[in-house]
Amino acid sequence: MSSTTLLGAGIGLRREFFEDLLASERRPDWLEIVSENFMGVGGRSRWALEECLGRWPVIPHGVNLNIGGPDPLDEAYLEGLSELVRRTDAPFFSDHFCYSRLGGVYLHELLPLPFNEEVIAHVVPRIRAVRDRVGRPFLLENPSYYEVMPGSTLDEAEVLTRIVEEADCGLLLDVNNVYVNAQNHGYDPVAFLDRLPLERVGYVHLAGHTPEPEAIIDTHGAAVPEPVWDLFAALLERTGPVSALVEWDHDIPPLDVVLDQADRARALLTAAAPAGAES
Ligand SMILES: [Fe+2]
Repeated sequence: MSSTTLLGAGIGLRREFFEDLLASERRPDWLEIVSENFMGVGGRSRWALEECLGRWPVIPHGVNLNIGGPDPLDEAYLEGLSELVRRTDAPFFSDHFCYSRLGGVYLHELLPLPFNEEVIAHVVPRIRAVRDRVGRPFLLENPSYYEVMPGSTLDEAEVLTRIVEEADCGLLLDVNNVYVNAQNHGYDPVAFLDRLPLERVGYVHLAGHTPEPEAIIDTHGAAVPEPVWDLFAALLERTGPVSALVEWDHDIPPLDVVLDQADRARALLTAAAPAGAES
């Protein structure tokens, strides 16, 4: 598996950043794009993508693959995704452990799946099919969830581990999601990490969240909170350097604020590298 290429510390390419990023002297190590925002589009988005491809590694990260839903995989979607992965020449691509389409309708949500054997048996061959169709390694992201779905007989760590091992794919480990889920569902986030196949982590998402009275909400609308940085540091103690990506999708601040977050992530990666090691 070649889903562990080290890229350093990157940021999500949001349309608010196009011109500022291309004009900035500050450079993230790599960029992540939301696949659907760049599939089959022209205009300003296509222009920005082409400009960025000349300067950075660009990794497609999707929300509409629907790896866990009952609908068949969408061939038109896979064609568009394959074209994007070819165009970006990305070493891997990713989407979430969720469902996002039902009855042919895209729901524009990352909806939670039950944790059980049926879901494992459903998702594993679909990941293999997607990887074979697109022709690059696939990473599965752990999502945030606010309720455990009816029909769950296993827990999240066991299901994620079984799926990525049986599908032989990578893990996009969202550290903020681990923290948010651990707080909302009352478990130890570090113990959760220790139950995952961390050697399969292709990269890490870092993001902010919003505390609400009933739960912590995974909003991607704030700086990475200190407990999430602490959990990232705990992960790095276990893995050594891994690629990291700062996600900021709502209440988007000036580019420099997000680049500051990437710089902090990079400093942690550098500190995690053994002296003289390739990074
Ligand atoms: Fe994420």
